[in-house]
Amino acid sequence: MVVRASAYADELVKTAKTIASPGRGILAMDESNATCGKRLASIGLENTEANRQAYRTLLVTPPGLGNYISGAILFEETLYQSTVDGKKIVDILVEQGIVPGIKVDKGLVPLVGSNDESWCQGLDGLASREAAYYQQGARFAKWRTVVSIPNGPSELAVKEAAWGLARYAAISQDNGLVPIVEPEIMLDGEHGIERTFEVAQKVWAETLYYMAQNNVMFEGILLKPSMVTPGAECKDRATPEEVASYTLKLLQRRIPPSVPGIMFLSGGQSEVEATLNLNAMNQAPNPWHVSFSYARALQNTCLKTWGGRPENVAAAQEALLLRAKANYLAQLGKYTS
Ligand code: 13P
Repeated sequence: MVVRASAYADELVKTAKTIASPGRGILAMDESNATCGKRLASIGLENTEANRQAYRTLLVTPPGLGNYISGAILFEETLYQSTVDGKKIVDILVEQGIVPGIKVDKGLVPLVGSNDESWCQGLDGLASREAAYYQQGARFAKWRTVVSIPNGPSELAVKEAAWGLARYAAISQDNGLVPIVEPEIMLDGEHGIERTFEVAQKVWAETLYYMAQNNVMFEGILLKPSMVTPGAECKDRATPEEVASYTLKLLQRRIPPSVPGIMFLSGGQSEVEATLNLNAMNQAPNPWHVSFSYARALQNTCLKTWGGRPENVAAAQEALLLRAKANYLAQLGKYTS
């Protein structure tokens, strides 16, 4: 069987390498309008397009952000959005040296036949949507599906998650977008770190298997795993060194060194915890670029500091730069709190 390579093969490898460049990581700012509404409600703002625009303008304009951030994941609205001053957000990112990316999944729905688990929609029409996103300036994509440990995970849920990610990855590469492959293993639960490790090995084994079956080019993808931690309600907490040791063991067992970048999600960890764990993983050289793709662990303080007030924009941007720089140092293994 001869498999046609993506016409974008060289560009995909280059894009993935640019995003996985030393010290830098991804700013995840792809909250759907509904999730963005929850964030805005937490500071007493209404979920209007103007408020979302103001917040997203704040996030992309701090001078020097590109020193620490190599890629920004946008929600579809933002890919077509301009700042308050009428400048395209995509153009600002490119000027900052940040690659624009786009969330392409259509969210989670109940998985019939499972133990109250979910699956991720979005494959129908994906190729044509992605072709349009490429035209609009996006160069990478994200698809987030979830796996729940307290609810199983069932064989069915893991297979569905892995297969969906693999189809998405192949379609994205065919349309010039580097796929970020994100099977989030949710933190919820009382389970210990060993159980998370076991589930993560299963999920990544299947995801890599189906990606190989779909002829995904591993040099042109990025992975977005959860770190291997105890469940959020587990009484036995883990040190950053323990989290790093389990997580690196997972990567060594499951991820080939041809994959250029492992961009972790923060998944509800505190800002400092997420930085410390990343720093611990970078105490010795790794075959991959081990970095961050955080939403909450980059934005929490920034959002609170802003509070929706124009006079707080500069301080909020400082807060974002502080977290971005801390994670930059952690990517280099040089963070000290
Ligand atoms: P968190 O870092 O808040 O878990 O978000 C990750 C994510 O998937 C958003 O793109």
